[in-house]
Amino acid sequence: MTTKASSVWISDLSHTFKKQTKPTLKNINLTIPKGQLTALIGRSGCGKSTLLQMLAGLLIPSDGAVRINAHTVTKPSAKWNMMFQKPSLYPWMTVRENAALGLVFSGTYKAKQDRVETLLEMVGLAEHKDKNVQQLSGGQQQRVALARSLATEPEILLLDEPFSALDAFTRTQLQNEVAEICHNQGITMVMVTHDIDEAVAMADKVVIMSQNPGEIVGEMEVNLTYPRDRSVDEFISLKEKLFNEFEKIDIAKQNSINEDNL
Ligand SMILES: Nc1ncnc2c1ncn2[C@@H]1O[C@H](COP(=O)(O)OP(=O)(O)OP(=O)(O)O)[C@@H](O)[C@H]1O
Ligand SMILES: [Mg+2]
Repeated sequence: MTTKASSVWISDLSHTFKKQTKPTLKNINLTIPKGQLTALIGRSGCGKSTLLQMLAGLLIPSDGAVRINAHTVTKPSAKWNMMFQKPSLYPWMTVRENAALGLVFSGTYKAKQDRVETLLEMVGLAEHKDKNVQQLSGGQQQRVALARSLATEPEILLLDEPFSALDAFTRTQLQNEVAEICHNQGITMVMVTHDIDEAVAMADKVVIMSQNPGEIVGEMEVNLTYPRDRSVDEFISLKEKLFNEFEKIDIAKQNSINEDNL
C-alpha cells in the first residue's frame, strides 16, 4: 500500500485575527518536500494550530499563501487529513464504520473497503473491528482515528498533538507507528507539538517557532533511521540540542521585549 506524497510551500505568511492589533503569525516561510516528516515545535499559544489549520485549508492567512503541489490552498481537501488531540469518533458506530467514514463520504467505500480491513490490522485493531468505539481505550480510539485518516490515501497527514492525552507507553508506541507508516508509505506529515521527545522521535526535520508573534526561528534535521531507538546517544544529544535552542530563543525574545520597553 503506497500513497502519493505532496510538497508544501508556505511563503511570506502572516496572520492577524480579526479585532487583534498584533499578528499571531509573522513572515513564515517554509518548504516541506514530498514525503518529509516535519514537526512544528513551540510554546503554547505561539500559533502552531493556527498554521496547521492554514495547511488544512480551514483558515486563510491574512497575508502570504500556502501552496500544495503549486496550488494555493483556499479550502479543505480530501487529499490531506487532519488528526486532532481528541479522536472525534461517532460513538454509535463500530470501529470499522468509523474507520470507513472518509471513504463513505467520498463515495469510494465499495471500491476501497479492503483498505479499511488492512489498516485496522496495521493499527492492531483487527480483533476489535465489530466493537462499538465506546468499548475501546483512549489509545485504541486514537488508532481508529488514524486508520480513518489513512483510509482515504491522503497525500498529507496533519497532526495536531494527537497523542498528548495518552499514557506514556501508548503515546510512545503510537508515535513510532505513525512515523513508520508515514515514512514507509511516503506520506508528507506535518505535526505540531510542544513535546521535544515526540518531535525528535518522529520528524525528519524539526521547525522551531517563537511566540508573540509566532515566527520560525530555527530548524534542526534529525537524520536517524526508523524505528528510532530513544536510548542511543545520538537521540539523546539531539533532544539536548533542541532544548538548548529553546533556551536561546527565550533569552533572545526576553532581550528584545526589554529593548522594546526601553
Ligand atoms: N479564532 C481566533 N481568534 C482570535 N485569536 C485566536 C483565534 N484562534 C487562536 N487565537 C490566538 O492565536 C494564538 C495562537 O493560537 P494557537 O491555537 O495557534 O496556538 P498553539 O501554538 O497551537 O497553542 P497550544 O500549544 O496551546 O495548542 C493564541 O494567542 C490564541 O489565543
Ligand atoms: Mg494548538
